[in-house]
Amino acid sequence: MSVTEQTRPAASKPRHQQMLIDGAWVDAASGATLTVDNPGRRTPVATIPRGGAEDVNRAVAAAQKAFPAWSRTPPRQRGRLLLRIAEALEARIEEMARTIAEETGNAIRTQARGEATLTADIFRYFGGLGGELKGETIPLGENVLSYTRREPLGVVGAIIPWNAPVLLGALKIAPALCAGNTLVLKAAEDAPLGVLLMAQVCQEFLPPGVVNVITGLGTECGGPLAQHPAIMKLSFTGSTEVGKVIMRAAAERIVPVSLELGGKSPSIVYPDADEDWVVDGVIAAMRFTRQSQSCTAGSRLFLHQDIFDSFLDKLTRKTQALKLGDPLDEATDIGSIINEKQFRKVCNYVEEGLHRKDARLVFGGLPPKEGPLAQGYFAMPTVFADTSNDWRLAREEIFGPVLVAIPWKNEDDAIRMANDSHYGLAAYVWTHEIGSGLRAAHAIESGWVQVNQGLGQQPGHSYGGYKQSGIGREFSLEGMLDSFTQRKNVTVNLTVPSRA
Ligand code: NAI
Ligand code: MG
Repeated sequence: MSVTEQTRPAASKPRHQQMLIDGAWVDAASGATLTVDNPGRRTPVATIPRGGAEDVNRAVAAAQKAFPAWSRTPPRQRGRLLLRIAEALEARIEEMARTIAEETGNAIRTQARGEATLTADIFRYFGGLGGELKGETIPLGENVLSYTRREPLGVVGAIIPWNAPVLLGALKIAPALCAGNTLVLKAAEDAPLGVLLMAQVCQEFLPPGVVNVITGLGTECGGPLAQHPAIMKLSFTGSTEVGKVIMRAAAERIVPVSLELGGKSPSIVYPDADEDWVVDGVIAAMRFTRQSQSCTAGSRLFLHQDIFDSFLDKLTRKTQALKLGDPLDEATDIGSIINEKQFRKVCNYVEEGLHRKDARLVFGGLPPKEGPLAQGYFAMPTVFADTSNDWRLAREEIFGPVLVAIPWKNEDDAIRMANDSHYGLAAYVWTHEIGSGLRAAHAIESGWVQVNQGLGQQPGHSYGGYKQSGIGREFSLEGMLDSFTQRKNVTVNLTVPSRA
């Protein structure tokens, strides 16, 4: 594992960044603030408003006020505005990429620039879908006209995490707005700056109150948003634990809810796939270059016993070649963990693995206590071999670069272990035998299975979880129709006697 230079310019004073309510940039009503850190350097980057219930009320009122005019704007006109936002975001990709890298610790070359680019693409994709908000006619006979309309729900309350903050924010804003809703989005306290930059770009084109972006802590700011009586739809991305809290809040008022939650996704390697391209794919699927802070991380590696050691040798060689270091350095492959809490959590899992007598450390381990990497929250890519699918390391979402390798002998066992999880978000299958690959793909209990690749989500693909990984789908036309519209049926009697 090599380390990129920490290029440290003199620390500048943290800037203050306000939040967006009703088209205006404002502080919290209380005046309280939070600090956003660069986790790669442990230095403050900015202060932001520490929003609370009063700010939520203001933002929801603004979104309610904006709703009638926005929902009556012709859908393709709404789409045109999203397309202009896409273009404006595209012109600011570098600024966005730096902002994301700085606040999240995600490496600029391998992660942040890609996120900024895909964000613009998400606005472009949904900007083109205005004309697809179609209804149906129901054939009830010549004397009746029965048809459906796709109507918006009203004010959407959205809450997002910090791991791909701008992309995940765009996946709420773009489909919600295309469908005619207005929105209050709560950014994650650890990564609000890119989301606020996106809000600034949106605000150049949208009427005030259509998009409101607020900042604050989970229970203090997210809580009142989830419970607000005027919110007509809740859309949440984050931990399964908080997802349950959101769903309970939705149940109180019978509002629809979409949840994109955690994962513990399997990567199954067949004996014919002991090859370099598969190793590259497994590394990509594990999201090592995102510090594995990804809900779709293929973090349980099921290797056929015949190739177990030779595959791990190749994996070791290729992972060790990745450069860990300053997220803003172009040479860096792997950046830092988001904050101290998550860093400690990841270290605890590594310690647990190191203390187990039956676990074999293949590479990695605890982070260095000295040197450049000790200046930030850098976790070492780590693999434990000969693990059992019953261990806590193999069952819980670590959200850090800790991979467990588990041997298998026959396909049924591999699939049984892959499915033995309360999560079901993603899965990866690696083999030249297309029959095996597809049999596994069909048998795995996950919302998204990739065969022979470990890529990220693409616009147009319905993405979401089975089991406790979530409810609802994002990224697609169908996701927008299901999650951000409600169907109304209108039935007209055509046999009313004519007036004389
Ligand atoms: P979290 O689920 O606590 O935070 C996500 C968002 O929810 C943030 O905006 C937060 O402010 C908000 N929130 C927290 N508590 C809330 C509440 N009671 N009511 C309303 N909003 C609330 O995630 P956290 O603490 O940052 O990470 C903890 C673990 O969650 C990670 O280790 C990982 O396992 C999982 N996670 C999964 C993600 C995914 O994409 N599936 C993303 C982030 C975290
Ligand atoms: Mg939390």
